[in-house]
Amino acid sequence: MLTDRRQVLKGLAAAALASTAGGSGLLARTAAPDLLPRPPAGAGRVHDWIFAAAERPVRLLGPDGPVTTVWSYSDEFLPIKRVRVGDTIRTRLENRLGEHTALHWHGVRVPNAMDGVPYLTQAPVTKGESFLYEVAPPDPGTFFIHPHCNESGQTGRGLSAVLIVEGDERRRPDADLVAAYKDWRLAEDGTWLPFETPEGASRAGTYGTVRAVNGVAPTTHMVPAGGDIRLRILNLDATRVIEPGVEGAEAAVIAVDGNAVTPFPLDTWRMGPAMRIDVLVRAPAPGESFRLIDYFSAEPWTLATYETAKGEARPKRAFDPAILYAPDLPRADLRNAQRLNYTFSAASGAVTEAAAMLAPDDPLAKILLDGLCVRDTSFWAINKASWASGSQPQMPPPLGLFETGRSYVLELMNATPHHHPIHLHGHTFEVLSASRLKRPRHFADTVLLQPKERIEIAFVAAPGNWMFHCHVLEHMEYGMMGYLRVA
Ligand code: C2O
Ligand code: CU
Repeated sequence: MLTDRRQVLKGLAAAALASTAGGSGLLARTAAPDLLPRPPAGAGRVHDWIFAAAERPVRLLGPDGPVTTVWSYSDEFLPIKRVRVGDTIRTRLENRLGEHTALHWHGVRVPNAMDGVPYLTQAPVTKGESFLYEVAPPDPGTFFIHPHCNESGQTGRGLSAVLIVEGDERRRPDADLVAAYKDWRLAEDGTWLPFETPEGASRAGTYGTVRAVNGVAPTTHMVPAGGDIRLRILNLDATRVIEPGVEGAEAAVIAVDGNAVTPFPLDTWRMGPAMRIDVLVRAPAPGESFRLIDYFSAEPWTLATYETAKGEARPKRAFDPAILYAPDLPRADLRNAQRLNYTFSAASGAVTEAAAMLAPDDPLAKILLDGLCVRDTSFWAINKASWASGSQPQMPPPLGLFETGRSYVLELMNATPHHHPIHLHGHTFEVLSASRLKRPRHFADTVLLQPKERIEIAFVAAPGNWMFHCHVLEHMEYGMMGYLRVA
């Protein structure tokens, strides 16, 4: 059944979207060759937001279910914030939680001081304190905001927000909807189960018990019949890989991690934690519906259903998913790029004698991490180094020294039998090639390394200390995390 659908879809879509090559190795020569350039952004607005991180009661198991004490940034649970490229966001993070926190702007190319990584880019924001973030997103797209310490516990209880930066559309779709995927680890009485388990942390990660989209069980949304629907799909889960597909309508991927691509059929795009895609769907005739489905689960699982109103449809016209402008991003000079290898593996046993290797006058050498950002063991490593762990954890040395403005090609190599969505802060890199999963060349901030896969990414280095880690939260917390230093 599934294969049938895929074959049909492949045939149809391949004919319609033949210009986008798939396949491994070096593909299309540019990330989005036939999209028009984006006109410069006008003078933007300033948004003043307050993110008051606190406990709040929410019925996550349905309106008749028990109350769960979630952690959230506002009374709106999992807020969806919209700004335009050119705008400035001034966000005051107020910490009303019992532990420290910070705001990381996942995928947004921010100055290092606004990157929200406790100890590395700022002091942790402790209970009762606040911190002002000023961020002017340089790129449009679909992003999200989350803490960067005890991330499995803090985002596990709900502390996240979706950030949409508008300004990439050449043609407006008829609807623009968010499907943010995230499981909850809840007991039947609405209390939280442990977010980390030794079995999970040392293998694929700990899975939630309740699957949810936009915080709640899958629901039905109304969309205009015959309309073009932009679906922004985010995988905000701590652990689960999803593979979204659309049943009952034509669908094309139009952006990856917020970055426009030459549209290609939504077929087998696997999304690890933190990955996003924007999809354009042509809604069916009045009274019909389509479904967004996760095909990576053992049983296909419906993420959302979209119903069209009875009555009038949009006038019939051909489906043309190329509604976005091309991304406007620094592109690596591949000919002169320096090549480096990073291997993601199980921990070698020895914890890094980290701080000792940082120059004594390095400000980070003086930092002794408190117990919250680190765990007592390491299961994972990058180039054999595990993120600080143990009773006296200290800031490890960087995983590499980079030069500002210089081009780099990193070869990422997965030496484990698990999936690892690898994320680099502060940069939008180009995915040049992948040894296993077919993908067109594209820009991203997180890339899914399948078991034993090898992937090449390229970028132009921006100054700062930038986290580089797996986004399976237990993998990062238990060692598969480090940082690159660009100076
Ligand atoms: Cu989503 Cu280190 O971040
Ligand atoms: Cu991982």
